[in-house]
Amino acid sequence: MKLDHIGIAVRSLEQALKFYRDTLALACTGIEEVPAEKVRVAMLVLGGTRIELLEPTGADSPIARFLEKRGEGIHHISLQVAGLDAHLRRLEAAGVRIIAGKGEYGAGGHRYAFLHPSSCGGVLVELVEADPSTPSRRAGLRSG
Ligand code: CO
Repeated sequence: MKLDHIGIAVRSLEQALKFYRDTLALACTGIEEVPAEKVRVAMLVLGGTRIELLEPTGADSPIARFLEKRGEGIHHISLQVAGLDAHLRRLEAAGVRIIAGKGEYGAGGHRYAFLHPSSCGGVLVELVEADPSTPSRRAGLRSG
């Protein structure tokens, strides 16, 4: 298991990119829309990991609700795992609450799931599958 990315909720990608891309000078590998999560996503390379900026695309987006309650800030951490299904089975058996994307395909065709913060010390944890055994449904994109 390793850190895949840190997800940060922002009101405006353009505004946030002024800091992360232009001022910090992190490379932005692309901006994608992920309709399933109602977000626009910018990925920035940070050493062996990445920063994922998340902007809501509608008022009913989970990110819009997060911004309303907590304001901008760290939204989730994402851990890369091999064999997502086995991990989910083990976590479910241990009583961990799995709240979204139970092994669904996110952007990039990578499968993911979210674990409820109440099971993770107050942190929303995303699991993404390292090497999908099934072909990418949306090749070219990479997020989660
Ligand atoms: Co993420």
